[in-house]
Amino acid sequence: MLEYDILIVGAGGAGLYAALWASQNPNLKVGVMTKVYPVRSHTGAAEGGINAALANVAEDSPEKHAFDTVKGSDYLADQDAVEIMTKMGPEIIYDIEHRGVPFSRLPDGRIAQRPFGGASFPRTCYAADRTGLVILHTLYDQTLKQGVEFLNEWFLLNVIHNGERVLGVTAWDIRNGGVHFIKAKAVILATGGHARMYWNRTSNALGNTGDGTAAVLRAGLPLKDMEFVQFHPTGLRKTGILITEGARGEGGYLINKDGERFMKKYAPEKMELAPRDIVARSIEREILEGRGCGEKGDYICLDLRHLGEKKLMERLPQTVEHARVYEGVDPVKEPIPIRPTAHYSMGGIDTDKYGQTEIKGLYAAGEAACISVHGANRLGGNSLLDILVFGKITAEHAAEYVVGVEHLPTEGGEYVKREEEFISSLMDKEPKEKLADLRREMGDVMASKVGIFREEKPMVEALERIRELKERAKSGLAVTDRSKRFNLNLIQTLEFLNLLDLAEVTALCAIERKESRGAHYRLDYPNRDDENYLKHSVVRRKEDGTLQHGWKEVVITKWQPQERKY
Ligand code: FUM
Repeated sequence: MLEYDILIVGAGGAGLYAALWASQNPNLKVGVMTKVYPVRSHTGAAEGGINAALANVAEDSPEKHAFDTVKGSDYLADQDAVEIMTKMGPEIIYDIEHRGVPFSRLPDGRIAQRPFGGASFPRTCYAADRTGLVILHTLYDQTLKQGVEFLNEWFLLNVIHNGERVLGVTAWDIRNGGVHFIKAKAVILATGGHARMYWNRTSNALGNTGDGTAAVLRAGLPLKDMEFVQFHPTGLRKTGILITEGARGEGGYLINKDGERFMKKYAPEKMELAPRDIVARSIEREILEGRGCGEKGDYICLDLRHLGEKKLMERLPQTVEHARVYEGVDPVKEPIPIRPTAHYSMGGIDTDKYGQTEIKGLYAAGEAACISVHGANRLGGNSLLDILVFGKITAEHAAEYVVGVEHLPTEGGEYVKREEEFISSLMDKEPKEKLADLRREMGDVMASKVGIFREEKPMVEALERIRELKERAKSGLAVTDRSKRFNLNLIQTLEFLNLLDLAEVTALCAIERKESRGAHYRLDYPNRDDENYLKHSVVRRKEDGTLQHGWKEVVITKWQPQERKY
């Protein structure tokens, strides 16, 4: 049986940075388990940058960064957690710089910073438009150097706890096949987001299926603010692949079919650099009101031509490549066709500001967690900062917790047996449904009924449809590949079941929040309603499988809610 003091699940930025800090204590046995090879984690897709108030380009301070974040969150973020994050911003940047992250530079050698949406100053540190990728590679190099043990290509099945303490996890060894119990005094879930529930309209990797979040739901623990899903304004029209906000930070324009920079109507001061919820809605409105581009009028154009080839190749080389490869357009000469794409899960596993869940020793960090520093709408560039700040904090907290704690006396046989029975039940079933069909249906329902613009009736229909899909999956979705090694049919089925559970929670929470706030915009309740809904939504699954919805207070330290104007 595998046994660790601290087991980290997920090897993106949050998981790797947590591993680096947890393994500072050489007496602790720290392991990282990940379903993909670490450098394929989704942090590698973060492009435009990481925020910190370095004040290298203009005056700035962590306090101003905190205010922008709280305002961007539409006042739903917990302000104590936000203050921790923004205060630690500069030290985190210098730490990863010293570990080898090759940031882009100003002519005088200091770290360059570009403007991003909703920020009062240029605050986003970057490495061209591959910031997440270089952070991920650097952290992975450093964890290897520090001797962290990896379980690569292992899939999380369930989190095991006794109602008070975490005992470990069950997992499937993808390479060799087989269920294992992995014993751990502390578990940090850094399993990423779940925007793949919008299957055909997302910037997310195929693997962003909320495995840790769904496991926490199954474990009877609360998820928070699941209605808040960020649509990034600029996904490529055909694929949803991300075109970085950095493109607008460098001066790119959004134009409709009449060549109009339409953001002047929606956010006259910030224009293209308003926060993402506002820009995404503005683009969607232009399309819905008939001002979209192309024959079908179903996209908007991101115009970068005026930036010139030299700047584009220096600052946005990947953007240029993506546009050329996936849309067949050359941004040096033509505008890029874009439309909003499901990008980020503001909601997730309910934790306190140390990433601690209700269960001792069980933590969450990164996009899987809802700490909450993003509230109803995350600012671009705050995600990479969040994963590092709270990766570190959870690791330090966990490292302190495990000292003096003994492993509980279990070999985990009963947990393994239960998983084996479940997997056999998937393999022994007669297939009546196709995974690809169910997955597409889920994505279509979520995108069309629980998307950028929301309303009671379609959302109630969506919830019913998701529940029907769950029934159909239960009775007719089978794993037809019975092999053990690299059984991707099994993994994709388990991932889909996770997404379905989380889609149900998302639709339910969206119905329950009868106001508009940040990314949750209701046509039937177009205003923010602080009196009734300045609260986090909380959902847990009861033993009978039904969902219990409730509310939780928002932490306000300095900033009382104001009207949010840009
Ligand atoms: O637009 C981007 O480069 C994405 C950044 C982020 O999601 O923080």
